[in-house]
Amino acid sequence: ELSPIDKAKFVAARRAADFVEDGMKVGLGTGSTAAWLVRCLGEMVREDGLRFRGVPTSTRTAELAREVGIEVISLDEAKWLDLTIDGADEFDAELNLIKGGGGALLQEKIVATASDQMIVIADAAKEVARLGAFPLPVEVIPFGWQTSQALIEELLISMDVMGRNSSLRMNGDAPFVTDEGNHILDLHLGRIGDARQLAMILNQVPGVVENGLFVDICDKVVIGYADGRVETRD
Ligand code: A5P
Repeated sequence: ELSPIDKAKFVAARRAADFVEDGMKVGLGTGSTAAWLVRCLGEMVREDGLRFRGVPTSTRTAELAREVGIEVISLDEAKWLDLTIDGADEFDAELNLIKGGGGALLQEKIVATASDQMIVIADAAKEVARLGAFPLPVEVIPFGWQTSQALIEELLISMDVMGRNSSLRMNGDAPFVTDEGNHILDLHLGRIGDARQLAMILNQVPGVVENGLFVDICDKVVIGYADGRVETRD
């Protein structure tokens, strides 16, 4: 028996899996909701003979995809993708997102951008009127990360955000390390006024590789509820 939150994630993932068709190249997201999608797709491969190739957005997802029988290829092999399906930490009415709670935002953004279409799968709690309550992940290279952090905090003074504290993401006693060997700063902004502008400006800071704001990338959100209902926004 699934918990209410897992039920919501599962029904969203199950619905989104139906968008995958034979012959497609599909970006596979990262996180607990995307893991449900990968399991659903694996079942469709094994039981219904679905034939598609998946491009994982993390080592975690690559492992799971192989485990469930999905044919995995790299983004460079795929070159372009028909579709990416991924989770999100927040989405707003314009389908802009905060992603990266699981630390995979860099590969996730590259893969989603290389796709004709991006579908987000989420439980209803991820919907927000304004982005920013969820700390915004920013991937920085390890060299001089404290300088990058100071530059970001300074730059936030002039931006339309509520807070400007940030923290280095930890993994126990050591800094969290991404698949690319970088660190993550979580920005506690509270409320983001202009997501597009913030996303652009953050990436100008030396040492910043990418940030978790996805603006104008997502085409559709499939929202799952604990009672099994599913709603679609596009
Ligand atoms: C991974 O880096 C994230 O972008 C995830 O997609 C996001 O954190 C959603 O994760 P859950 O599905 O586990 O909430």
